[in-house]
Formats: sequence, structure tokens, C-alpha cells
Amino acid sequence: MKGTRRTVVIVAFLALVTVAAVPTVAVASVTDQVISRLNRQLLYLAVPIAVLVEAILAYTVWRFRDNDEPEPTKENRQLEITWTIATAIVLLFVGTASFYVLAQPTVSTVLDERNGDTGDVEPGGAPADAVEVHVNAEQWQFTFEYPDENVTTSNALVLPEDRTAYLYITSEDVIHSFHVPDLDWKQDAIPGQYNLLRTEPTEEGEYRLYCAELCGPGHPEMLSTVRVVDQEAYEAWLENPEAAPNETAGNETAGNESSPNASTIGSATGGEP
Ligand code: CUA
Repeated sequence: MKGTRRTVVIVAFLALVTVAAVPTVAVASVTDQVISRLNRQLLYLAVPIAVLVEAILAYTVWRFRDNDEPEPTKENRQLEITWTIATAIVLLFVGTASFYVLAQPTVSTVLDERNGDTGDVEPGGAPADAVEVHVNAEQWQFTFEYPDENVTTSNALVLPEDRTAYLYITSEDVIHSFHVPDLDWKQDAIPGQYNLLRTEPTEEGEYRLYCAELCGPGHPEMLSTVRVVDQEAYEAWLENPEAAPNETAGNETAGNESSPNASTIGSATGGEP
């Protein structure tokens, strides 16, 4: 039995070393921050449990390899109570930690307090110091409208670093999904309604924007770019939004000619498909 205990201690130590060695990735947005933290917490919990279970299994197989007359396990109430409580604690932790992240306004869409009972989200709710952008998805491109700045573009979603962004996401035709994996941003684009993604990019750079909902033959090419720049570069860009610093956005090829809504680009306020 002493040997077993020593094995458990060694395994637990190895598990901790493994977890400590997991590299911490740079955080690119406040949304990324809470999701990555949850991911790490669950990893800290899951890795030692997985290692412990596998170690007990391996030990048991080795220890009883020549046992020709195995005895059935006798009832052990204490053991049963222990593993029931331990499992309940683990599940409670996973549930609470996940729900806490899911309830964050930077992760889930926020109900609109201005619309009382229904809570329907409507554009125009961003505070004065935040950037408000209406993201319009249609077959098969994204269009970004900055109502306060009178700018509409399909080239890229340009956002200033370290400033809150209110992204009101909707669709002109079918259901699309606004997904930027490197920023941990994901929100459905649904015709006739707005979903709000309230977030803040914290790391300058270029991030690929994908449509993450199968929306027709042009779906694989429904890509765009999120460019996070400093405040100065953002203001310069607002002056001349079409002079994109890179030519690789690739949105021009995303089937504009065949789009029935090409003429309505920029009419973000309609909402009805
Ligand atoms: Cu839009 Cu897939």
C-alpha cells in the first residue's frame, strides 16, 4: 500500500509539472482573456485526473497480471461516498466556472435594457467612448458600417486597440456567423435581428475573420480581416478607409457580382431581410 501511495504522489507531481509547462499565449482581446482563463482552469483540473486514472489503470494491470483466482470486490461504502462527492465537486466547479464565463457580456450577446420586456438588441447603444460598428453579413461577404463616422467598407474591420467595441451583427439574407478565432470572437448573424458582441481588442495585429455557418456555395470564401491598430492609425484610416494598407483582404473576389444585395450595401438600419 505504501508503494501505491508513492506512485500517486509521483503521478500528481508529474501532472503538476506538465500543467506548469503549458505555455501562456498572448491575449488578444478581453473576450480571449476570460475564455483562455477558463480553458486553463479546466486543463489544470483535467490533466491530473486523467493522469491519475491512467496511472491507477496501468498499475492495476501490472500488479494483478498473474492473478489466476481473482476475488470479487466487496462493498466499500466509504469509497463509494468518496468518489461520488469528489465527482460532484469536479462537476460543480466545471459548471460554475463555465457559466460564469458564459454570462460575461464580453462573451454572450447582451440584452438591450432600452427595450424592456423583449430585450431586443438595437444599434445605437454604444457609449460615447466606444466604437460602434454594424456588421452586415450577406451571401458572401461582410460589410462594416461605422455610423458615427459615416464610413462603410467591405475591405476590413478596423478597430482601435484598447478601446471598447460594440459590434452589432446582423444578416441580409440567411444565417451567417461572425468568427475571429484568434480573438475568440464568435456571434451568429441572423436576418431580422441584431446580436451584440461587446468586446475590446488588446493586441495590435491582423486577424482572419471567417463565416462559421454554412450559408451557400460561397461559404468557404466568405472571409475578411480584422485589423487592430493604435488610436492614431485608426483616426488616419477613418479619413481614408478605402486606402487599405494591405491588398490581401481578398473580399473583392467573394462573389460580389452574383450577390442580390450588392446594391444595398451600407443600409444597416433595415434589419428586415
Ligand atoms: Cu456566410 Cu457561411
